Amino acid sequence: MKLLIINGPNLNLLGERETSIYGSRSFEAYFEELQAQFPILELTYFQSNLEGEIIDRLHEARKIVDAIIINPAGYTHTSVAIADAIAAISMPVAEVHLSNIYAREEFRHVSLTARHCIGVISGFGLLGYRLAIEAFIERFASAD
Ligand code: DQA
Repeated sequence: MKLLIINGPNLNLLGERETSIYGSRSFEAYFEELQAQFPILELTYFQSNLEGEIIDRLHEARKIVDAIIINPAGYTHTSVAIADAIAAISMPVAEVHLSNIYAREEFRHVSLTARHCIGVISGFGLLGYRLAIEAFIERFASAD
């Protein structure tokens, strides 16, 4: 199974950014751990602070990967264009948030992207990415 993880704006600063909310580990270090935990998977990782680049990556991935895990970060709450890109591609997309967006400011309670995703995991920190991978493994296994 080929799985792409996309992280949106400011998540390149994980580990140093608002550590009381987002934790003190970099995503790169966690990604290496994920690769070691799931050697049977072809995992790739992409991060961008730019809306258009995230949309391009979603388009590119549509013929290449089996599933996508996306944390659109701030764009979750604002980007009709990223929501449209997720709607436009046919492979399953899971949305992950490190923090519990429903326990934070009201503007974070709305996700424009979530309705086009098969599910959302929010509030479990980096563990959320692993939970999303496990959900996809289960989903693809039961589709066989
Ligand atoms: C986030 C939550 C968003 O509201 C915020 O803008 C982020 C990170 C999360 O992972 O908890 O940048 O997506």
